[in-house]
Amino acid sequence: MSVVVETIAGMRSALRHLTESADGGRKVALVPTMGALHDGHLALIDRALQIADIVVVSIFVNPLQFGAGEDLDTYPRTLDADLAALEARGVPFVFAPTADEMYPRGASETRVTSGSIGGRYEGKSRRGHFDGVLTVVAKLLNIVEPDVVAFGEKDAQQVFLVRRMIGDLDLDIAVEAVETVRDVDGLALSSRNRFLDDRQRRAAVAIPNALEAAESSADRGTDAVLAAAQSVLTGDSDVQLDYLTVVDPATFLPVDEGHHGRAVVLVAARVGDTRLIDNQAIYIG
Ligand code: PAF
Repeated sequence: MSVVVETIAGMRSALRHLTESADGGRKVALVPTMGALHDGHLALIDRALQIADIVVVSIFVNPLQFGAGEDLDTYPRTLDADLAALEARGVPFVFAPTADEMYPRGASETRVTSGSIGGRYEGKSRRGHFDGVLTVVAKLLNIVEPDVVAFGEKDAQQVFLVRRMIGDLDLDIAVEAVETVRDVDGLALSSRNRFLDDRQRRAAVAIPNALEAAESSADRGTDAVLAAAQSVLTGDSDVQLDYLTVVDPATFLPVDEGHHGRAVVLVAARVGDTRLIDNQAIYIG
């Protein structure tokens, strides 16, 4: 049975106990989540179980990363089902703190700032989002002190910013980025997909289709990549494009038409009231 630990002191003491009594290795992996676990999360946990001896999953819907008018209150919370899934995988500890436990001083907490890249793309549409993400991730890393932390590649900007924070703050922690898990029609799994009705769910497939079209145009340059993706996304009136851009994975800055080499196509779109993001690594020849 997975033990649910709700306090920071409890988590530290549980980990101390586990690492001291471990017969085998003591490599600790952290998988931070906001719950509502789906197969994408389970792929992160499976990878963590492969590469570490002790796996801690955190479930915390972090208020700091939601802006006014966003879906903090309606964000899916499915703790019982999450615990059943984690127990089936033999995850010993689930760290599920309250907001008061994580932020006892409320909004006056010290924050980690995500810098100029944190203000682009997702961060432009969701002001302060990445400061909230980095702050909670930094706190979770300090509480669990893992050797490795696992994230899904679907949130490419989040992975970039976490890696950069870990580097900038000289944290001795490896980041394991795990490939996006997709439904049979290509839609990236997301806890928010459950908000889509049947028609919206069918429309949402324009997002992976646009990324596929982008990838197929990669040998014709950045403008062709963008045009191919854009024409798929604008072809469905149920899909409202937020941003579509091609970035250099090393800097996360947009690339220009002259760019050759690795790149990542980023897309965010609203389908009904649900905001979805996705991305595709490409090679511009
Ligand atoms: O990707 C998420 O689910 C969240 O942004 C994270 C990393 C758990 C921080 O709250």
